[in-house]
Amino acid sequence: MILEKMIDDKTIKDLYKSALNVRENAYVPYSNFKVGAAVLTETGEIFCGCNVENASFGLTICAERNSIFSAVAHGYKSFKALLVVADSKEPVKPCGACRQVMAEFGDFDVFLANLKGNIEKTKVSELLPYAFGSNDLMKE
Ligand code: THU
Repeated sequence: MILEKMIDDKTIKDLYKSALNVRENAYVPYSNFKVGAAVLTETGEIFCGCNVENASFGLTICAERNSIFSAVAHGYKSFKALLVVADSKEPVKPCGACRQVMAEFGDFDVFLANLKGNIEKTKVSELLPYAFGSNDLMKE
């Protein structure tokens, strides 16, 4: 039997605080919509990312992807959870590109949050069912 370890409230709070902190650094001159994300590795490290926009709008990168890319750049590829926060009415939902990047690294928990402290729990496979993955690159 595989026993899945639940993420405790203190860890969720730590992720929320980390994401709130990094959100302050968001570079958003065009949308004015600041987003922060924090990803928790299997070994307990937290890596953060904020959205960084560009005058060439399509080059904008989201907070979630920046947090994951930062973790990977530091040598971590196994994740337990990611939390994303923005000033949205409902807990903010990751865009499709970020869902695809999450799916590359497994089916971990994803916490969606807003500044009011509403936090919703989901997971990668719920956000992106039937995902394209490395198996789809296999030929016969
Ligand atoms: N954005 C994120 O960083 N993450 C999300 O989950 C949704 C959207 C950013 C991209 C852009 O800088 C701004 O929010 C408005 O779309």
